[in-house]
Amino acid sequence: MEEGKDPPTTVISRSNQSRALPQRLVQLLSLFLLLCFAISLFSIYMIRKTGGVTTVTSAIPMLQPCIQAQPKNNLDHWITPPSNLVHTMSDKELFWRASFVPQLKKYPFARVPKIAFMFLTKGPLPLAPLWERFFKGHNSLYSIYIHSLPSFQARFPSTSVFYQRQIPSQIAEWGRMSMCDAERRLLANALLDISNEYFILVSESCIPLYNFTITYRYITRSKYSFMGAFDDPGPFGRGRYNPNMLPEVNISQWRKGAQWFEVNRKLASIIISDVTFYPKFLQFCRPACYVDEHYFPTLLTIQAPKLLANRSLTWVDWSRGGPHPATFGAMDINEEFMKKLHEGRECVYNDKPSLMCYMFARKFAPSTLERLLRFAPEFLGY
Ligand SMILES: *[C@@H]1O[C@H](CO)[C@@H](O)[C@H](O)[C@H]1NC(C)=O
Ligand SMILES: *[C@@H]1O[C@H](CO)[C@@H](O)[C@H](O)[C@H]1NC(C)=O
Ligand SMILES: *[C@@H]1O[C@H](CO)[C@@H](O)[C@H](O)[C@H]1NC(C)=O
Repeated sequence: MEEGKDPPTTVISRSNQSRALPQRLVQLLSLFLLLCFAISLFSIYMIRKTGGVTTVTSAIPMLQPCIQAQPKNNLDHWITPPSNLVHTMSDKELFWRASFVPQLKKYPFARVPKIAFMFLTKGPLPLAPLWERFFKGHNSLYSIYIHSLPSFQARFPSTSVFYQRQIPSQIAEWGRMSMCDAERRLLANALLDISNEYFILVSESCIPLYNFTITYRYITRSKYSFMGAFDDPGPFGRGRYNPNMLPEVNISQWRKGAQWFEVNRKLASIIISDVTFYPKFLQFCRPACYVDEHYFPTLLTIQAPKLLANRSLTWVDWSRGGPHPATFGAMDINEEFMKKLHEGRECVYNDKPSLMCYMFARKFAPSTLERLLRFAPEFLGY
């Protein structure tokens, strides 16, 4: 309403102002242009005089941080472990990438073989403090990979050996084929680090039975990989064989064994690059057949029998009977029990009889942690 009263005055005063402004502006602008022109002339003169070299060389140090941040195309680029386990590769892409195998057996650099500890878990790792102690001081000799349910958010402190060691996961349904998927995915992720030579599958209820030094030596000096593989004539062995597996697998090649394996790089590569047996197992071993008890032992018995110890490195207690091995609780853990973990064993190690047979044991409930931590120094050596 107020504005509408005398519009002419407003217009007039505005046009007065706007007439005065352009004049100042034009003056300033021409001054500025003149200055620019002078500077350019001077620059051209200087570049001609110095040949422009100084300008270029002085620019390089400023650019270098950028150049250095880019991946270098030297050997390090190929042998440095991925700094981050998170990736966006699909399983198909991951397995293809992980199947790269060097053709030259001799490494052109000092390679210290590492053991990849692959934790297949539902959620948290209740015995993590025990494992932390086991790993302490052996940084360059191991790497850790965790496959848990995708919904599980791990919260390890940045000081933990488990910090950011989760691999991208997908649902693993216990006893079904997807368990094998998870195990193969763990292997594929671990294969991306060229320094991993041995691959051990463990669960959240596993504990190491010896200190790291002894465990490392036992595994790295073994001629064979520790995969339980036996021919079980019963209903839970051969009884699960399906003739549709022919011609790839016949009944005398059918094997059974616990899934908690230890394989070397060669066997790990065989497993992740298998495209023949796996689809057959997927098709004909579902759902009553526990694929993870048969797929790995059968595949490796056919593809590399001479590399297998045919026994597991992980001890479980079947003495209580039933379809599942015993789970130990806090009340089971006493000095007597701890002594027995190392005693009364007989097996074959590197084709010779041995009293040291297992490096790991399961199943230990979360409630055992406190007592295990107390007894480990004396009885387990860590
Ligand atoms: C199973 O296959 C293996 C290897 O091809 C062969 O040596 C063996 O005789 C076969 N066994 C049976 C029962 O067909
Ligand atoms: C494991 O079993 C396979 C046959 O299934 C055999 O060829 C191999 O020699 C066995 N390994 C050892 C260490 O005895
Ligand atoms: C590991 O255990 C063995 C046997 O108990 C012991 O001799 C050795 O000193 C231990 N090593 C470390 C690093 O604690």
